[in-house]
Amino acid sequence: MTEQSEITRVLVTEEEIAAKVKELGEAISQAYAGIDGPLRFVVILKGAAIFAADLVRAVRIPLTLDFMAISSYGKQTKSSGVVRILKDLDSSIEGAHVLVVEDIVDTGLTLKYLMENLKGRGAASVRACVFLDKPQRRKVEVTPDFVGFIIPDEFAVGYGLDYAERYRNLPYVGALHPRVYQGKE
Ligand code: IMP
Ligand code: MG
Repeated sequence: MTEQSEITRVLVTEEEIAAKVKELGEAISQAYAGIDGPLRFVVILKGAAIFAADLVRAVRIPLTLDFMAISSYGKQTKSSGVVRILKDLDSSIEGAHVLVVEDIVDTGLTLKYLMENLKGRGAASVRACVFLDKPQRRKVEVTPDFVGFIIPDEFAVGYGLDYAERYRNLPYVGALHPRVYQGKE
């Protein structure tokens, strides 16, 4: 089976992504104009890596780039909200303005945990920029400050988002055919 035949439809095109990244870069540049020190981007691996690579080049204010890798406890594919930090930040964020960059907010459990964790380290501010948002699935209240696209409740892959580590290289966002993951959840 080819990769393409596993995608039921395109949710966001390559052109829409490029335009949105420019728009978000502009909004972030304006929101943080004049802050003390560089804006600290905290990119959540691996899903947000591709989005962040494009996004930082659309931001015109000084910034630094750091990464966190996290994983949910347990084997379930659905998020539990209990998050284990696999790779932590390289440096302190005390007193800094932090922007978390995440691929998608679904139930909200992961983003809520992360933002609270980072706030607890004494950052001056912690906000979030997410590429995709599935608000229908939210279980906890968390509102990302910058959102690329709101999508329906379908499993999205591409532009960094994976299913079982595949499809991250697609230049667009597609809905994965349920037959690919049915019976494996
Ligand atoms: P949450 O804690 O339920 O908000 O889950 C967020 C995480 O689940 C994301 O960082 C993704 O890794 C993963 N996730 C949720 N929905 C999707 C999807 O549609 N495609 C790919 N990964 C997803
Ligand atoms: Mg992820």
